[in-house]
Amino acid sequence: MKEQIKRLKEEKDVVILAHYYVDGQVQEIADMVGDSYFLAKKATEVSQQNILFCGVSFMGESAKILNPDKRVIMADEFADCPMAHMVDIRRIEEVREHYPDVAVVCYVNSTAEIKAYSDVCVTSSNALRVVKALPNKHIFFIPDNNLGRYIATLVPEKEFIFNDGFCHVHTSIHKENVEEAKKLHPDAPILTHPECTADVLEISDFIGSTSEILDYATKSSAKEFIICTEMGIFYELREKNPDKKFYSVGHRQFCPNMKKITLEKVLHALETLEPEVTLPEELRVKANAPLVKMLELAK
Ligand code: 13P
Ligand code: SF4
Repeated sequence: MKEQIKRLKEEKDVVILAHYYVDGQVQEIADMVGDSYFLAKKATEVSQQNILFCGVSFMGESAKILNPDKRVIMADEFADCPMAHMVDIRRIEEVREHYPDVAVVCYVNSTAEIKAYSDVCVTSSNALRVVKALPNKHIFFIPDNNLGRYIATLVPEKEFIFNDGFCHVHTSIHKENVEEAKKLHPDAPILTHPECTADVLEISDFIGSTSEILDYATKSSAKEFIICTEMGIFYELREKNPDKKFYSVGHRQFCPNMKKITLEKVLHALETLEPEVTLPEELRVKANAPLVKMLELAK
């Protein structure tokens, strides 16, 4: 299957982009693997006419919004991030009315409709830089409550309004699970994604996006680590660091939507160049502005 995928993607001028949370064997056949920011940026730079996305809907949608002339295909059209829907548009309008100077800062883990109501997008690796670069005093951070609260601690000069969205994978990592892992591996630093809850962040040694966790573990002189994010990251952690040990904190670090992507589906998408991501042009244009602003401010 891997040979067929390799042949077809060349024949059909397709680049395969994959997120660190998909299965290791899917990461293995991808042309580029990265965090959400890297993938959004790369989508604007690739030369191929077709982009095949191995990730959840908002990632393919962002690639299409930024590249209207390319064909963007999802490995699985039903792989969707529940958090991407956790904002009420009426709430955005209410907050805008109440705080006329507010900047609506939207995590890329959101639908195109939600992006269209926002001022700027962020990912977990550039949120701090982007928020700091904004002139606005008030920040309405959507949809993720945990990432918003974490960024707020780093930018005390601004006033944040929070939304109640969350990632069910990261919030299922409980402080007690992490403490148990620490008892078993007292020398292992705890590396955590900012979608985790504040009590887990508090006991962590490092907080960062998936690619920041990878960089930290690769550069660190420590030989073992406790990892608080989705288990797909273990593939690249072990590829890059075969002599280091990585421990999970339980069996719930598993995103069922990311795991919908299989080699069979990748092959099928390459054969058919379907399912294609499509968006009404008016919506695409509105959702494009906050994404482009993110790419500019995050440079
Ligand atoms: P990053 O890729 O920005 O670390 O985001 C994690 C995530 O939850 C993607 O779905
Ligand atoms: Fe969404 Fe969480 Fe899965 Fe990322 S890990 S796609 S935020 S549910």
